[in-house]
Amino acid sequence: MVSKLLALEAYPNLRDLDFRILRGVELNMRHHKWVPLEDIARFARVDIETASFRLGKLDNWGLVRRRSDIGYIGYQLTIHGYDTLAIRALSKKGIIDAISTTQIGVGKDADVYVGITPSGEKVAVKFNRIGGRTSSRKASYHGIVFRDKHHTSWLYVSRLIAKKEYEALALLSPIARVPRPIAWNRHAVVMEFVEGTELAELRDTDLTKEEAAQVLDRVLEEYLKIVRFGIVHSDMSEFNIVLTDDDILIIDWAQYVTTAYPESYELLKRDLTVLLNAFRRRWRVERNLEDVWKEFYEAWLESRGEGDGD
Ligand SMILES: Nc1ncnc2c1ncn2[C@@H]1O[C@H](COP(=O)(O)OP(=O)(O)O)[C@@H](O)[C@H]1O
Ligand SMILES: [Mg+2]
Repeated sequence: MVSKLLALEAYPNLRDLDFRILRGVELNMRHHKWVPLEDIARFARVDIETASFRLGKLDNWGLVRRRSDIGYIGYQLTIHGYDTLAIRALSKKGIIDAISTTQIGVGKDADVYVGITPSGEKVAVKFNRIGGRTSSRKASYHGIVFRDKHHTSWLYVSRLIAKKEYEALALLSPIARVPRPIAWNRHAVVMEFVEGTELAELRDTDLTKEEAAQVLDRVLEEYLKIVRFGIVHSDMSEFNIVLTDDDILIIDWAQYVTTAYPESYELLKRDLTVLLNAFRRRWRVERNLEDVWKEFYEAWLESRGEGDGD
């Protein structure tokens, strides 16, 4: 489903006070499920009436949610409110000047939009939606604890995931074909815009068997380097491989695990199985999983300091 970036529709109407109010809701959500109106007013340094009036507007624009059946009047940030704060921060830091309202990528866990930097460069802005609408996939984010002692916070989780993906891209982009990261803020990651087509979007007839075999070789070559470096993708599929004019890129690193992580062995095996199956099913490219696995298993061992030479 293509979703519009609601934050952008509200954005032109927002004053500095509105951003202070949103920030007040955000910060207090660490301690409250529903943030008391008084706390927001105090944070924004305005009287209750003014805060309540602006919060009414923010509610109409879909940036906050209000509740009054809990013994007091409380507010929550919506995902659109969170987007708004991330966009504002990225723009204040001079990372992006503008962002498009139409979505470029529809993924499982994120919405991706085109942004423009102050120097006119096109970038991809990826907003994590995990914990918001796609709670069913939570379990697949290895190494991230979704429930703290107090409550599950999608703000906290989606921010952790953005940070995690930024870190993966920063580690990998010098050594392998992944998008170059530019910045992250809250649940958003800004990265190099990749011109290309996802493998999943291609029709089977777009590639000959020989071309498909070359693509698979390149993907395996890149992935092997990455595993030797110590990282397992763990969501490898046709949806996360982009074909550019002259090469491939592997995207969507939010779920990566290091090879030190106990489950990385099974995750790597699954990644390779999914990959080989896709190429066999769509282009009849035959690769023996055992042979491929042997090579990757050695790289996996090597990255853990358990290789032959040690
Ligand atoms: N750097 C990028 N440049 C261009 N398009 C991108 C970029 N990153 C992601 N996309 C597009 O957005 C989609 C979703 O992004 P992805 O990182 O795969 O997140 P998800 O976890 O939602 O699958 C991708 O399938 C792709 O079409
Ligand atoms: Mg994806």
